[in-house]
Formats: sequence, structure tokens, C-alpha cells
Amino acid sequence: MEEFVARFNNLARLIDQPSVLVDRRGTVVLASQGAFELLGHHIAGQSFDGFIRHPDFVAALQMALTQDQQTDLLYTRMEQVPRQFEIRLAPFDKNHVFIALIDKTLERSVERIQSEFVANVSHELRSPLTSLSGFIETLMGPAADDKQAQEKFFPIMQSEATRMQRLIDGLLSLSRFEAEAHRPPTDAVDLRAIIDEVVAIKSHMADGRNIQIAVTSEWEDATQTPLVRGDRDELLEVFHNLLENAVKYSNEGSDVVFALSQGRDLAGATQDDRIRVQVTNTGPTIASQHISRLTERFYRIDEGRSRSMGGSGLGLAIVKHILNRHRGRLRITSENQQTCVSVTLPTER
Ligand SMILES: Nc1ncnc2c1ncn2[C@@H]1O[C@H](COP(=O)(O)OP(=O)(O)O)[C@@H](O)[C@H]1O
Ligand SMILES: [Mg+2]
Repeated sequence: MEEFVARFNNLARLIDQPSVLVDRRGTVVLASQGAFELLGHHIAGQSFDGFIRHPDFVAALQMALTQDQQTDLLYTRMEQVPRQFEIRLAPFDKNHVFIALIDKTLERSVERIQSEFVANVSHELRSPLTSLSGFIETLMGPAADDKQAQEKFFPIMQSEATRMQRLIDGLLSLSRFEAEAHRPPTDAVDLRAIIDEVVAIKSHMADGRNIQIAVTSEWEDATQTPLVRGDRDELLEVFHNLLENAVKYSNEGSDVVFALSQGRDLAGATQDDRIRVQVTNTGPTIASQHISRLTERFYRIDEGRSRSMGGSGLGLAIVKHILNRHRGRLRITSENQQTCVSVTLPTER
């Protein structure tokens, strides 16, 4: 008997997943610590199927007992967050079957995220591609000699091609930043200079909609601004994306403000080892249910509007990845038509 228990325990330890031993009727004879934790301490002496209620359990048990065959069953356990298990049954001896519950939740969610991602990318690429093919067909057929139509269509075709290009660039940066997520940056960079540069690059875009961009700072003498530990190009990308959004989603003729200050925690207390940049703009208030999702890839409140302005829905996802690598924080608030995106970064010491 002792040898019997030891054999089960050894196998359970080897498999390192919740494991159970049942007799010919499916009653639990032995269980590993993990199985007790998963299914409850009262499983001993009870019918295993009573806990999992799987339609194929009885058949699988019979297979293991009579045909000496291993069977796998898929099983979803309804907890607050449903978990997926693979139940593996294998013969133990003439009268007992060894059951292991292999947790597949993580694997399945990764699979789901991946297939969702591929579906999203395909959807995003298909629409500019469809429109391009349409124009090409028209220009080769009915509009072959129509100079006016050509003058009208070529710029649209160009902007569709640019949109695809931007989407691909965005996807490539995302995967690059993801790959680097665990390598913290080492350079000391001047955040104020980065912001001034981004503002200079973007001001023509803002002029077109009569939007003024201002930079304010707690450090009147710009050279006193604390340096941050970071990667210059990546931080340029962060503030470029934030400024682009602020201008794009602003009311015509309003102001966009960059404010630099010492870091603050959630309660408002200053943190002298952090620096904060707030980008504020005036535009439609973002409803709270959207805010927490804005950094998801392809998440856009108004897909049509974002797309017509050349957006791919990847900007904030890229921002979040870069900030993670920088041990930075991102916080978005929006009320009374004021949207504020706040970035906090550790200063260099
Ligand atoms: N300053 C802002 N004001 C209002 N909405 C914003 C602002 N910044 C971002 N958003 C919303 O967040 C969405 C995602 O932003 P982003 O990832 O940069 O994608 P994109 O700009 O390409 O649409 C935008 O489509 C928009 O709906
Ligand atoms: Mg954007």
C-alpha cells in the first residue's frame, strides 16, 4: 500500500500539475496538493466526475481501464476568469487510472490574442488595398483617357499607399519595442530638448488647423531640467505620437500645451526622482469606458474619423511599450472637453 501511494506521489511530482488517482468507478483514491487546491479538499472518496462533469469522462475512464489507452479531454473550469485544462487519463494499474489536469489557459489566450491580431492587421490592410485596386481598374478601363479623373485619383491612391506604409511601419516599431521591453535604456537624455524638437517638427501640422502649441516648464531655465534615463529616438516617438493625437483630436483654433514638472504620485505628492510631462488639448471628452482601452492595438473611438486622418490605432500602443521599457507611467484623463495625457519618467541619477 505504501509503495502504491509513493508511486502516485512520485508521478504527480514528476508531472507537476494537479493529479488524481481514481478507482474503477471513478472515485478519487489519492490526490496531489495541487489537485486539492484546484478542486477542493473534499474530493477524496468522492466521484471525480462529480467535480468536472465532463460528458466523455466515463468513456475515457473505461478506455484507460479496459484498453490500456491514454485519453485527453478538454475541460473549461468556470471561475471568475474561465480556465482551460486538458484532462489526461492513463492506466496506473489494473484497477486504477491516473488523471492529470494540465492548465492550458495561458497557451489558449496567447493563441486567441495572436489570431485576433492577425485578423485586425488583415482588416486594416484590406481596405486601402481594395480602394487602390478599384482606382487602378478605373484608370485602366473607363478613365484611361480621362485626364481629369486621373488628376483626381492619383493623389487619393498615393494617400492610400502612404496609409499602408504607415501601418506597416507602426507594426514593425511595435514588434521592435516589444522585443526590447526587458532591456532598460542607459543614456541620459534631455527631455526638454526632445519636446522642443517635436513641437518644431509638428508646428506646420498645427498651423493648418489654427492650433497653437505652447511649452511650459517648472524649470524656467531650460538647462536646469533634470535629465531622464532613456533612449532619445524612442522618447521622440512617444511625444511625437502624443502631440499628433493632441492636434488631430483638438477643436479647430484651440491650444495644445506641454507642461513639464516634477513627478507627482496619484495622491499629488511630488516625487523628486521623476519628471512629468502633461500634454493637454481641448476636444471631445473621451468617455471613461474608452480610456483604459486606448493603448490597445487598433483601438480607436471613432474608426472612421481616425482613419480619415491617417491614423492606424497603433500610436498609443507604441507609446505604452516604449514607456514600459523606460519604467515610465502613462495616465489619460478627460473631462469638460479637456484631455490630458500625462507621462512620468524616472530621472537620471
Ligand atoms: N488627445 C486625444 N483626444 C481624444 N481622443 C484621443 C486623443 N488621443 C487619442 N485619442 C483616441 O485614442 C485612439 C487611439 O490613439 P492612437 O493609438 O494614437 O491611434 P490613432 O491616432 O492612429 O487613431 C484614437 O483613435 C482616438 O480615438
Ligand atoms: Mg495617434
